[in-house]
Amino acid sequence: MSSVDHAWNIDALREAARQRLPRGIFDFFDGGAEDEITLRDNRDAWSRLRFSPHVLRDVSKIDLSCEILGGPSRLPLVIAPTGGIGIGWPGADVAIARAAMLAGIPYTLSTTATASIEAIAKANGSGRRWFQLYILHDQDFTDRLAERAWAAGFEALVLTVDLPVGGKRERDSRNRFTQPYRPGPAQILQACTKLHWAWGILRHGGFPALENIVGLGAAKLDHFQSQASSVGQQLDPAFDERGFARMRARWPGKLIVKGVARADDTERLLGLGADAVWISNHGGRQLDGAPATVDVLSDIVQAVAGRVPVMIDGGVRRGSAMVKARALGAQCVCAGRPTLYGASAGGLAGAQRALDILTDELYRTMQLVGARNMQEITLDLIDSRTLPRVR
Ligand SMILES: Cc1cc2nc3c(=O)[nH]c(=O)nc-3n(C[C@H](O)[C@H](O)[C@H](O)COP(=O)(O)O)c2cc1C
Repeated sequence: MSSVDHAWNIDALREAARQRLPRGIFDFFDGGAEDEITLRDNRDAWSRLRFSPHVLRDVSKIDLSCEILGGPSRLPLVIAPTGGIGIGWPGADVAIARAAMLAGIPYTLSTTATASIEAIAKANGSGRRWFQLYILHDQDFTDRLAERAWAAGFEALVLTVDLPVGGKRERDSRNRFTQPYRPGPAQILQACTKLHWAWGILRHGGFPALENIVGLGAAKLDHFQSQASSVGQQLDPAFDERGFARMRARWPGKLIVKGVARADDTERLLGLGADAVWISNHGGRQLDGAPATVDVLSDIVQAVAGRVPVMIDGGVRRGSAMVKARALGAQCVCAGRPTLYGASAGGLAGAQRALDILTDELYRTMQLVGARNMQEITLDLIDSRTLPRVR
């Protein structure tokens, strides 16, 4: 039995990843910006919501399936994009893409993934896949990325709009964590105590590259910059509504806008042709002090008024969050770190374990609140005294 088979919840997978990885890498995955207020609050906000369960309902059969962005999904769950993760487990992106396909849920590939668009399309096979796009300084390069994604069967483009510059991630600065990953003497010494991890990297022939942006060149870092800033340097901070409209006109498929945090932005985004709104604060890695995502969910659902699907990520560590999100009007939740912890601890088996845990918890929660399918998950299942105030 591997360490992931013993993991009974996502926190146990996180701990397995922490034990396997050198500190700098674990902290890059796990950490947030500045004082990590938003990172913590994302998770706490889910637990502030309480249920108001029904009793005496036949819950012997539960249907977890739902529609996401006009297509079928076996769960109200999407894999959120996570860049640079192959330094934890070579092949982590492929493992997660495969796990998503096997679980029957959509998968999102990051622009800064450590696997190519084409390799992921192969691993994800008949699965539903979306491509997350950062708008880079180099417009032709950005356009080519989107074209490759479309050619490789990615049905939706996820435009991330909460990273005009990299957040100030102080764990990375403390650990002297840089991208491309170049461990100094202290990190090499530490890596010697993480033999499983080191062996995996050696067997792979070294650290994997950010496959889709190879050729853009490494950024030079100053004292206050970290990995996030180095990727941030490749991004175009001037990206605005005009750039958005341009991408909309070029992309033939569905376009999702990721990183929305306030209701009054949604009107503009829908006017510009967004097909879905993805509420996110980048897992607390960008603006520290941004609101917990679930605290703004009801406001945004109200503003969108059913015109397009609303999705939400940040701090989802329990299957019950899927029930809470659906009750508040989201179509699905998206999760970044849960499968990342799993894959870092145990590759494909770890990513699958994360999805199994969340599926089991969702099933059990639906039985316990008396909801037999997604239609029966309604707002009254949440104790109204615990709802965030709608503005
Ligand atoms: C290690 C790591 C890398 C990430 N890379 C990206 C990225 O390349 N593009 C992006 O839009 N979001 C990225 N995110 C943010 C996630 O897509 C998502 O918004 C966040 O992880 C959700 O919070 P959760 O980890 O609590 O589920 C990253 C998150 C992590 C933890």
